Amino acid sequence: MSIKYYADERVFKLDTPSSTYMIGIVDDEQFVGHIYYGRRIEDYHLSYLMRINELPYVPSQNNRDRTSFLDCFPMEYPTHGLGDYREDCLAVKTDKGHTACGLNYVSHSIYEGKKPLEGLPATFGSKEDCTTLELVCMDQILKLEVTLSYTVFEKLDVITRSVQIRNLNTESIVLTKVLSTCLDLENKDYEMMTLHGSWARERHIQKRKIGHGKQSTSSVRGASSHQDHPFMGIASKGINEDQGEVYGFSFVYSGNFIAQTELDQFNRVRAVMGIHPSDFAWILKEQEVFTAPEVIMVYSAEGLGHMTRTYHDLFRNHLIRGEYTHKKRPILINNWEATYFDFNTDKLLDIAREASRLGIEMLVMDDGWFGNRSSDNCALGDWQVNENKLKGGLRYLVNEVNKLGMKFGIWFEPEMISPDSNLYRAHPDWAIQIPGRTASLSRNQYVLDLSRKEIRDYVYEMISSVLKSANITYVKWDMNRQLSDLGSFYLEKEKQGELYHRYVLGVYELQERLIHDFPYLLLENCSGGGARFDPGMLYYSPQIWCSDDTDAIERLYIQEGTAMIYPLSSIGAHVSDCPNHTVGRGTPFETRGYVALLGTFGYELDVTRIPEEDRKMIPDQVAMYHKYNDLVREGDYYRIASYSENHTHDAWSVVSKDKKEALVTFIQVMAEPNYHSRRIQLKGLDAHTFYCIEETKEVYSGEALMYAGLNIERIFGDFKGKLIHLTAVNH
Ligand code: DGJ
Repeated sequence: MSIKYYADERVFKLDTPSSTYMIGIVDDEQFVGHIYYGRRIEDYHLSYLMRINELPYVPSQNNRDRTSFLDCFPMEYPTHGLGDYREDCLAVKTDKGHTACGLNYVSHSIYEGKKPLEGLPATFGSKEDCTTLELVCMDQILKLEVTLSYTVFEKLDVITRSVQIRNLNTESIVLTKVLSTCLDLENKDYEMMTLHGSWARERHIQKRKIGHGKQSTSSVRGASSHQDHPFMGIASKGINEDQGEVYGFSFVYSGNFIAQTELDQFNRVRAVMGIHPSDFAWILKEQEVFTAPEVIMVYSAEGLGHMTRTYHDLFRNHLIRGEYTHKKRPILINNWEATYFDFNTDKLLDIAREASRLGIEMLVMDDGWFGNRSSDNCALGDWQVNENKLKGGLRYLVNEVNKLGMKFGIWFEPEMISPDSNLYRAHPDWAIQIPGRTASLSRNQYVLDLSRKEIRDYVYEMISSVLKSANITYVKWDMNRQLSDLGSFYLEKEKQGELYHRYVLGVYELQERLIHDFPYLLLENCSGGGARFDPGMLYYSPQIWCSDDTDAIERLYIQEGTAMIYPLSSIGAHVSDCPNHTVGRGTPFETRGYVALLGTFGYELDVTRIPEEDRKMIPDQVAMYHKYNDLVREGDYYRIASYSENHTHDAWSVVSKDKKEALVTFIQVMAEPNYHSRRIQLKGLDAHTFYCIEETKEVYSGEALMYAGLNIERIFGDFKGKLIHLTAVNH
C-alpha cells in the first residue's frame, strides 16, 4: 500500500517511488495539516514540521492569538475568513450573508484504485495502479462536509487531488470559491515556472523568482486559453533538465483557472490551484455535492526532465482514452491552409488524389463545408452540407476519398453560433449574452449557452447526423472564441454565477457522448490553434491541435513548452507551405518534417501546388513517420538543447523504454560563421550499451554519447536540421 495511516501519530504517509507526502491531524482541534512533500523519506515521525508548539502559534481554542496560529499553520485545505489571511481554497455565502468557514477532521478511508469524478475528466487507474485516501472534514456550524481525495500512483511520482463538497444543512449555501489544491512549502529560493503566450504563440516557457506577495497565472476567458496555461512548476533556482527540484501542478480542467504562489511573512510559499473564483457562485442545496476538478502533482528531485516524462507516462496510460491512445494515427492532410474557405468537391478530390499517391492516409475537410459559410462571418450552427460546394453531397465526396484508399475527417465548431445563421434567426436566445446589452462579437460569432440541455441535445443531433451520413472516421472539434457577456437566458438569476462552470461541463458531456456513440472516431480538439490544449480535453481526444502557427521555427518554442507536460503523441503538428502563412518565413521542407515528427505529423498545404522538389520529399517523410512513430509516440522524451535558451540550435531525443533505440533531432536555427562541429550530450541511453548511428555506421557507447557527447557536423545555412537514429548493437 502506498498510503499508510499511523494511528498513534495521527499521520498519513503517501509514497510514490521517489517522493513522500505527509498529512497530520492536530489533536485538540482536528485540524488537517500539511507536514511534508518532497524526496522520499521512510521515517514518519515528522509532525514536528507543523510547528504547533511554538508560542504564540499554538492551536488551542481559547488562545488569545488564534489568528496567529491560523495565519501560519500549513492547512491542507485552508478556508476563508477565520484568520488565515493567506490565499484560501474555500469560501461561501450563507443565507445571512456570511462568508467564513472552517474545517476539522471527521474520518478517513484508504482504498485501492480510484473513483471517477462525475461529469469531469480525471486520471484513472486500477487497483494495481493506485491507492486513494479520502479525508472527510466538516464545518460543524455550516454543516458542510468536505472530502479531500488524494490518489497515489504506484509506479509514477504522481499524487492527484480533488475535493468534494456536500451540503448537509437544510438551507442552501452558495460556494463562492472552491479551489482544488493547496501546498505550503518552506521557501528555498524557488522559481515559478509557467507557460504563456497568445494566438499563434502558445505555451512559451517563463520562469520567475517567487517574491513576497502573490503571483499567478490564470484565465477568466472561459477556456484554458492561448495566453496562460493550467500548469505551474515550483522549481529550485537554476533547475535544469537533470538536476534540481520541481513540484509540478497540472489542472485537469478546460475553463477558468488560477494557479498561484504566495510568499508569506514567514518566508513560506503557499501554492494553490483551482477554478478561478471570478464570476463563480455555485448554489448547493441540501444533500447536493459539488466536485472540484483534479490537480495532478508531480515531484521530481532529478530536474525538469523527470517531471516531463512522468506527466507523459501518466497522460498516455491514465488520462487519454480510446482506440488511438497507443495506436499510430493515419497521416492526414488538412485543407485549411491549402484553400481556406475556397474549395469544392473537385478541389478536395484533386488534393486527395495527389496526397494518396504520395502516401498520405486521410483527408480532413476543414471549416467552410456547411450552410452558406464562405467566410468566417456566418453560418455557425447551420450544420447542413452546402451542396453548392460539395456537389453530389458529403457521402459522394467521402466515398470518392475512400476509393483512393484514404480515410475521411471533418471539422466542426459545435459550441458556436453566428448572428448570420438560420439557427440564430430561429433562436437568438441560445447565445450567451446579457439581455438588454449588445454582446461583444469575436470572430463575428457568439458562444452557445451549453449550460442548457436542450441546446446541447440540438448540437449533438446535428453532429451525429452528419457523422452517420457518411464514412467519417475523424473529427476536428474547434472553438474559435472565448466567452464574454456572461449571461444565460435560462438560468435563474441566482444561478448566473454557475454559467462558466456549467458551460465547461456541457462541453465535457457533449464530447463524452460523441466518443461513446462513435468509439472508432479519432477526435482532435482545437481552439483557434491551441487555446484549449489542456488535460481536460485530452481525456476526450488523444490529440489536440497545438497552434495555428505552423512555422517550423516558431513551433520550436511552442512544442517545447507544450511537451513540457504533454506527450508527443498528443501534439497536433503539420508540415505547411512556405512562405509560412503566419510569419512569412521560408524554411526547408525537410526541417518542417522533422519538427512535425515531434508531434502527430500531417500536412496542411495544397499538395497540388507546392514546389515539385518539396512534393518529391513527401514519400520519404511518410516513410520516416512510419519508421519512427512507434518510438516517438511511446518513448521517453529528452530535451537536449533549447533554442529558446541558446538562440542558435535546438535538439531533443526520444528513447525507447527498453533503451535499445533512440532518435535525436537537431535543428540549427541560425548558422554561425567560423565554428567547429557542435557537440551535444545525449540523454536517457544505457551507459553500458553500444549504439550504432544509422547514418554514419559509427558505434559509440552510451556513456560516451551521454557524458562526453556527439559531434554534429557543421551545417551550412539557417533553419536546417538532421535526424540521428541510434540502435543498440552487440559490441
Ligand atoms: C482555427 C483552427 O486552429 C484552424 O486550424 C482552422 O480549423 C480554423 N480555425 C477554421 O476556422
